[in-house]
Amino acid sequence: MVIKDYLKRTIEEKWAIGHFNFSEDEALRAIVESAAKLKTPIFIGTSEGEKKHIGIKQAVNLVRAFREEFGIPIFLNADHHKTLEGVKEAVDAGYDAILADFSAKPFEENIKLTKQAVLYAKSKNPDIIVEGELGYVRGESKIQKEIIEIKTEDLTKPEEAAQFVKETGVDMLAPAVGNIHGIVTSSKESIDIDIISNIKRAVGENIYLVLHGASGLGGTDLKNSINAGISMIHINTEIRVAFTEALRKSVAQMPEETTPYKILTPSIEAMKKVIEEKLRIFGSINKI
Ligand code: G3H
Ligand code: ZN
Repeated sequence: MVIKDYLKRTIEEKWAIGHFNFSEDEALRAIVESAAKLKTPIFIGTSEGEKKHIGIKQAVNLVRAFREEFGIPIFLNADHHKTLEGVKEAVDAGYDAILADFSAKPFEENIKLTKQAVLYAKSKNPDIIVEGELGYVRGESKIQKEIIEIKTEDLTKPEEAAQFVKETGVDMLAPAVGNIHGIVTSSKESIDIDIISNIKRAVGENIYLVLHGASGLGGTDLKNSINAGISMIHINTEIRVAFTEALRKSVAQMPEETTPYKILTPSIEAMKKVIEEKLRIFGSINKI
């Protein structure tokens, strides 16, 4: 089954594909082993920084190796790529999907650049999935101690979303619907379910909505978002936190240990716990 078949099923059957980020082998292994155990299709992403750390060829080939070994649908996404050069690099390297993120630019420029990304990507690989972003999703993938205030003008307007998808030709859209990247400790992250429904109605059945910044959101918010039309959910911070908390504990408990894989094994297990919990909430288990 190709990506579009799974995306179509998310709407018909009301579930969402999980998207998790990695920058090193441990997170990748945790994501794939969880997905294989629960028989779920999975998206794996590298942001520009994560891609630089692991290496672009390494990311593509590692994912290929895991795909062959586990025999499950694993799709590699160039997450939040903010330049056309970065987008082209990922397309040329063999990524299965890209997020051409020009959401920081004015509306017309966002359309223009995203359209160029779509044209380039599809000319090189007609099956590639291209996502655009519209609206302002604040925050970063970390624990956000500062107050983050979402303004009304940050949120995606359904009529602009309709124009955006029509003019750019994207397959997926990342809207701003009250979501924040990272785990917020001093603010309240609350998802506006009505906006999701209105955007979904405006963009139509064949354009798939992606919820970014889902770390820290509760199961009810996630499930309501899926029912309102979300097809894919991004989690990064929660697995970063699981990794680093387990690593700190490992190092403290094994001060004499010098074998990296022994120190890192608890981190893999901690990430798997988070990922499996999310996949169950997303309803994507046994969908292969
Ligand atoms: O693109 C990545 C995700 O939107 C991650 O969001 O850091 O809140 O998990 P998160
Ligand atoms: Zn994101």
